[in-house]
Amino acid sequence: MPTLIVVGAQWGDEGKGKIVDLLTDRADLVVRYAGGNNAGHTIIVGGEKFVLHLIPSGILHAKKRCFLGGGMVLDPEAFLAEVEKLIARGIKIGTRLKIAPETHLIMPYHKTIDLESEKLRGKRKIGTTGRGIGPAYVDKIARIGIRVADLLDPEVFRDKLAHNIAEKNFLYKELYGIGALKAAPIFKLYTEFGRLIAPFVADVSRIADEAGRAGQSVLFEGAQGTMLDVDHGTYPFVTSSSAVSGGACTGAGVGPTAIDAVIGVIKAYTTRVGEGPFATELLDKVGERLRDGGSEYGATTGRPRRCGWFDGVVARYSRRINGLTGLALTKLDVLDGFPEIKVCIAYKYKGKTIKEMPYGLNEWREAKPVYRTVKGWTKPTAGARSMSALPVQARDYVKLLEDLVECPFKIVSTGAGREETIEVGDPYKR
Ligand code: GDP
Ligand code: IMO
Ligand code: MG
Repeated sequence: MPTLIVVGAQWGDEGKGKIVDLLTDRADLVVRYAGGNNAGHTIIVGGEKFVLHLIPSGILHAKKRCFLGGGMVLDPEAFLAEVEKLIARGIKIGTRLKIAPETHLIMPYHKTIDLESEKLRGKRKIGTTGRGIGPAYVDKIARIGIRVADLLDPEVFRDKLAHNIAEKNFLYKELYGIGALKAAPIFKLYTEFGRLIAPFVADVSRIADEAGRAGQSVLFEGAQGTMLDVDHGTYPFVTSSSAVSGGACTGAGVGPTAIDAVIGVIKAYTTRVGEGPFATELLDKVGERLRDGGSEYGATTGRPRRCGWFDGVVARYSRRINGLTGLALTKLDVLDGFPEIKVCIAYKYKGKTIKEMPYGLNEWREAKPVYRTVKGWTKPTAGARSMSALPVQARDYVKLLEDLVECPFKIVSTGAGREETIEVGDPYKR
């Protein structure tokens, strides 16, 4: 059975939760590979809404195993709260949820540093989710991070924590001018978290490898999106993890030869939360209509999402960076009733037409979109379950995007519900 990566192709919130939930019916195992509880993945099944932050979006399928890969950062309190919430809603977790021991922990000081460093950045702020994500990844790369495995060994944990507290207290005093931290209460709290998390810890990489070699199907679930990737996104207005498909290999602990297909989830228009360049952003009534129609408010922070037209430059870049074998187009229904729709086919910068993603902050900021305008459709696409049920203009729109991105659409989503979906091709096949 094939393995598949599902990755966000824009700036996050593309509808990965819905698509992963949908595709879990054909997977034996779902492994999330990046990010932390900065993510908010919404799934609607039978009219019931679930929002997941850390737990893979396959969890609603009874019996499917769901793993948190070592490329993630884990806030243990948030994880335990999410597990409890699911159980309270009747989702059976049992032994099918696992965490990789190499996963780095989000500590209380990471959240403080996240908020304090945003304050210090002033007008250069990133607009983070304030969940401590960046500072946790900073410690990982600085090789002082505390991992899930460390929590299970009190001696190692105590030693690492003491070292970190001494360093953070220097920052607290000298850089942020805030009161000092004490190790003892954090040690006590996190030791208790360690006790509660211990039953979930398992060698995710090894189990995923064994599953793949036994002919089982593994789905690797991304978080955030390509343009938020720390290497390939609109740096520094990015998150701190490898959100692109390549992150699945390091983040789940599998080799690239284990991957059969890569699906990019992409909205029929564009949104972004937080600061940073966004060429097709609409600050007018049209943008507001997209926000209202698409309920574009963050699933994690509730912030209104910035909205704009589909950006073909971003989409093509995403195809390349992720090696996409197919796309899942979401929220086509949100464009229902627009008299005309614009698609960005290139950028104009200093008199030059650019078709490939530029790399400089000024180019991103100042590049103006070159649009192709197409006619909208009057008959709704909402809830459509076959391409033939779509109005011809909507079918033409899908074809236009497909030609622009040079990647086949395997799925077209026409509503938030699991069943409001058109499957055009097999997402698990190249
Ligand atoms: P994710 O972070 O990529 O999982 O996306 P979010 O869950 O943050 O945001 C996507 C939102 O769009 C959620 O509220 C979904 O329920 C919703 N959604 C997903 N697909 C569709 C669709 O095709 N049409 C509509 N109208 N809503 C959708
Ligand atoms: P999902 O998985 C949209 C954005 C934040 C901010 C930047 C850095 O739901 O698509 P961070 O807290 O990660 O340091 O913030 O990244 N961001 C997201 N935007 N969807 C997400 O996740 C995001 N996760 C982080 O808004 O601009
Ligand atoms: Mg989201």
